[in-house]
Amino acid sequence: LQHIPLFQELAEDDLFGIAPLFAEKKVNKGTILFVEGDVGEELYLIQSGVVKIYRVDEAKEITLALFRDGDFFGEMSLLSSGMTRSATAETLASSTFYVLNRTSFTSFLEKSPKLCLKLLEMTMQRLRHANDQIFDLTFLGVRSRIIKTMIRLSEQHGIMTPTGLLIDVKLTHQQLANLVGTVRESVTKVLQEMLDDELIYIDKKLITLRNIEAIKAEIR
Ligand code: CMP
Repeated sequence: LQHIPLFQELAEDDLFGIAPLFAEKKVNKGTILFVEGDVGEELYLIQSGVVKIYRVDEAKEITLALFRDGDFFGEMSLLSSGMTRSATAETLASSTFYVLNRTSFTSFLEKSPKLCLKLLEMTMQRLRHANDQIFDLTFLGVRSRIIKTMIRLSEQHGIMTPTGLLIDVKLTHQQLANLVGTVRESVTKVLQEMLDDELIYIDKKLITLRNIEAIKAEIR
């Protein structure tokens, strides 16, 4: 639990107090953990794995967030009384979670101002990101949105390699389109342009940003 940023500010004693309340849950890739509209009863912390948070409208899908090791989700319906799950959660890789039920979560929050502040801080970051998404979807074209999404993913899931900054999440063109709020064909076109310009490199669905300065310069 020490490696979960949400609990970073807590003293070891507090962590010992909370640890037995978590249940471990292991699931395969492609498991739907809950669906938008479900009654929410649990908070999820990712010990290892990748989770996509999304909403669907008929055949269309928008990805709201990608979470991985150390992240948490499922807090919104636990903290807004009478509200159901605001989005669907699905694993993009086999994943292991620590799961905390509503009563344990709220009683721990009541006892720990540090945990409340940390949760608020992280929620503010998510709100900022949601504002960026609204801005980008309203004002930017597809190429800029794809580039901004790649930069954001590289900040969250990036690993420096000799070729450049590797985004360590396997993404299909459709999955990237769902993150950006566009169609697959537009992603394929923009990625091909970027490959031709040697701005990126793609191997087995993993994108590496080769020329980070040139990529960032495009959206300044
Ligand atoms: P909950 O509403 O219980 O279930 C869906 C979860 O997805 C939600 O809690 C949050 O943890 C997470 N979530 C929903 N919308 C966003 C968003 N815009 N950014 C990040 N996480 C989100």
